[in-house]
Order: sequence, then structure tokens, then C-alpha cells
Amino acid sequence: PDNQELTIVSNRLPIVMNFDEQNRQWNGKPGSGGLVSAMNPILQSRGGTWVGWPGMVAEKAEGYEQSLREVIEDIGQEAGYKLEPVMLSSEEVEGYYGGFANSVLWPLFHGFPNRCDFKPEFWEQYVEVNEKFAAGLANTMEPGQPIWVHDYHLIGVAEKLRQFGSPGNIGYFLHIPFPALENYVKLPWRADLMRALLAYDLLGFQSGRDKRNFLECVERLMPQTNIVHGDTTTTVEVQGEKVIVGVFPISIDFDDFNERAQSREVESRMERMREELGPYKMLLGIDRLDYTKGLLERFYAFEELLSRHPDLCEEVVFFQLVVPSRESVPEYQALKREIDRIVGRINGRFSTSKWQPIHYLYNTVDIAELTALYRHASVGVVTPLCDGMNLVSKEFCASQVDESGVLILSEFAGAADEFHEDALLVNPYDTVSTAEAIYEAVMMDEKERRKRMRRLRHEVQTHNVYWWANQFVDSLHEPSTLVEASK
Ligand code: G6P
Repeated sequence: PDNQELTIVSNRLPIVMNFDEQNRQWNGKPGSGGLVSAMNPILQSRGGTWVGWPGMVAEKAEGYEQSLREVIEDIGQEAGYKLEPVMLSSEEVEGYYGGFANSVLWPLFHGFPNRCDFKPEFWEQYVEVNEKFAAGLANTMEPGQPIWVHDYHLIGVAEKLRQFGSPGNIGYFLHIPFPALENYVKLPWRADLMRALLAYDLLGFQSGRDKRNFLECVERLMPQTNIVHGDTTTTVEVQGEKVIVGVFPISIDFDDFNERAQSREVESRMERMREELGPYKMLLGIDRLDYTKGLLERFYAFEELLSRHPDLCEEVVFFQLVVPSRESVPEYQALKREIDRIVGRINGRFSTSKWQPIHYLYNTVDIAELTALYRHASVGVVTPLCDGMNLVSKEFCASQVDESGVLILSEFAGAADEFHEDALLVNPYDTVSTAEAIYEAVMMDEKERRKRMRRLRHEVQTHNVYWWANQFVDSLHEPSTLVEASK
């Protein structure tokens, strides 16, 4: 049922609301990150309801709740679906979002247990807020309707929802990696979280690696379950109930980027970029501010490149856009300071009177600017230390309408499963090899570049975000007939 309406729930709605004190009105600006960019086109094409947090603390809306709801409703109507806000107090945002989601689950699931802060209050808030989302959902859904829950903020929703009534099938998709057993077991609430996951009918992961990690944790921590590997599906049997587990690599709206990349608007922005940045080949990085993205390691690799190949000085520029993210979390504030320091040092070391090696922007840009950057770039440098999928790598390929750019991709991004033959794969911890891969990309002849980029684009075009969502939704209607989306 490709056109059936959906009910989805995720921590964020696709907009961040803000009260403009001067004009005394609410403004919504688009949210960033992979989840919002993947789900927005899906809801737009199918219609339905999106339940989530509007990105500001409830206290800010005191006295203005009615106008906030109206503005959110209008934004939804314009987008073609219903937005159902779940309001969170500053205490809830701190404990559930900044705390358990982003200071426990995010670092732990990306393999950084030492960055975790396992405060019991964080867990308590997480459980309460998950219940709040489930209650919000219970109010809006029709009985028996399937529900699709997203990402690490909301693992507990199915378990809670079942206490509120008899819902239809509940599916869950994890946008980030599932950790290896030795990291997962460090979580003080590992058994509770495992039980919460097994309350779903369908569990979707980004890659085979994530699915294997999950099943290993089930096997070790939940001895009362039975794992059955079928031809096309894996089932976890738990107390007479079946949980289907599958791999669904997320993607983007290929046509949207491909068409916009050829628009007049994008071409004139590229023209301006050429004037402003000079006649150099552009290496491009685009990331949310995050320690999982390997930003410092990337700058070190670029520094290594310039010192090993001084012939590239005054030949290439490295353009790095960092989109502000989670600025209330201490780890993110520290990373920001470190980036400023390293970029300043490298630019100080190599700049000449007419050339500056790194152009670093800490900001959001509009979609036309983003697409122009992707198209203008000669090399896309996507080198996360760990990443569920990484949609920047796919957006870069979809925007490369001239088929002339080269993708450098970390072997630790989920996208490496699909792109391993045509991207240059690197280990981002290996500074010298990453530098040499960038060199190879800059020097690669046109025929080879075209051959690779054509195949990369074909992959994104055929396995786009609509394909991904259809696979998941079809499986959600009939979990036992799931045919895994992995190719
Ligand atoms: C990742 C997560 C998303 C999240 C996004 C942006 O892509 O998987 O769930 O929305 O980052 O992070 P933020 O904390 O701003 O929602």
C-alpha cells in the first residue's frame, strides 16, 4: 500500500518552533539531521500524522499555547500532513533529550562508552517521557492502526502503548547503529531496554552489522527467547509473541536533489561560489556538530595531505560546513572549541596572501545553497568514526549531475555497504591513508570519476527513500512476510 496514510512518532517534528519576542509571533524553522530529511518527503507524499516534539521547552509557550498549536497546525497543512505536538518541560528536555538520549544512548550506541553519563535521573525521565509520547499517540490514533516509531529517543513507546489499549502492529526503526554486545552490556538498564525493544512487532536496523549486534544481545541477555532464522526473515519468539527483525538501509529523495541541482537558482549560486572561493578544486565536508562525525580527524588528514603534497597548496580548498546541534550538551560545546582551535592552527600554518586552505562555516544553510555546494564540490569527504547510514554521502551523489565528483567514505558509515565499490573507502582513524585517499581523489582521471559516480547515482536513484519506506510499511502490515530490504 504505497499511498496509505502513515502515523509516525519521532522525538522531533520536522520543525523547530521559536517565539520571536520582538514581533510577538511563532516561527518554525526546519530541523536538521538524517531522520527529518528522510521522513519529511515520505509524509508529504503519503499524508498522515507526525507525532513529535516541536523543539522548544513548554515554559516558553506559557500563555501562548493556543497560538502555538495553530501555527503548528498551519505548517502541517501546508506540508500536506498533520503535526501533533508533544510538549516537554525544560526538566524533561534536560533529563530525557540532553540526558538519556544524547548523553547515554547516543555515545553508547556509537561505540563511545567513555562519553556516557549514566545518571539514574536521566533514565527516570526517559521512561516518563516515553510514556508521555505513548499517551499522545493513544489520543490521536484509530484503534488497530499501524504505528511507526523512530529512533533511540523513543524505544519505550510500544511497551507503554500496549498498556493504553490494543493497538495495531507497532514497528520501530533505529536510525543509529546498534552497539556490539561488549558496549551494550555497560548500560545499567540493559534488560529494561531489551524488553522494551521486544515489545514491537517489527524491528528495523540500518545494516546487517546492527541486526547481528542486536541478535547477539538478545541471545546473551534474554535466555527465555528463541531466535529463528528463516530464509528471508529472522524472528525472535518471546512469550508466545513474535518480533520480526529486518535490515532496511535508509535513503533520500533522489529526484528532489537531482532536479534542484540542475535548477537556475543552484547554477547561479555555483557561479557566486566560484567567484568567492577562487579557481580551486573544492573538497567538501557537511556535518552536524558531532564527535561521531570525525571532524577533527578529517582536519588532521587534510593537514597531512598538504604537508605530504605541497603541490596541492593553492590548488585545493577544503570547505567544511558544520550545522549547530545539541548545543546544551557539554561534549558538543567542547568539540566546538576544539574545532575552532584546530582550524585556526591549520589555516595559520598554510595560508598565503591569496589562499586560505580551510573555509569553515558554523551555521545552517538553505537547501539551494546546500545543493550548490554538493554540485560544485570535486571531492565529498564523508569520514564519520561511526554512523548509522550517513545521508550526506547520498545527497552528494544525487546532486552530482555532472558526474565529475569523487566520494571519500568512511568504512564505519552504514552507507559503505552500498558504496564500497565506487567510493574510496577510508579508515578515518588512519590519518596518512585518509590523506592519500584524498590525494587519489583529487588526481583521479575523468573517465574513472564518471564511471564511479554514475554507478553511485544509480544506486541512490533505485534505492531511494520511497523504496525504503515502502519496504518497511509493507512489512509492518504483514510482518511475517517480510522480505529484507537489504540487497
Ligand atoms: C540524528 C538522529 C536523529 C536526530 C538528528 C538531529 O540523525 O538519528 O534522530 O533528529 O540526529 O539531532 P537532534 O538532536 O537535533 O534531533
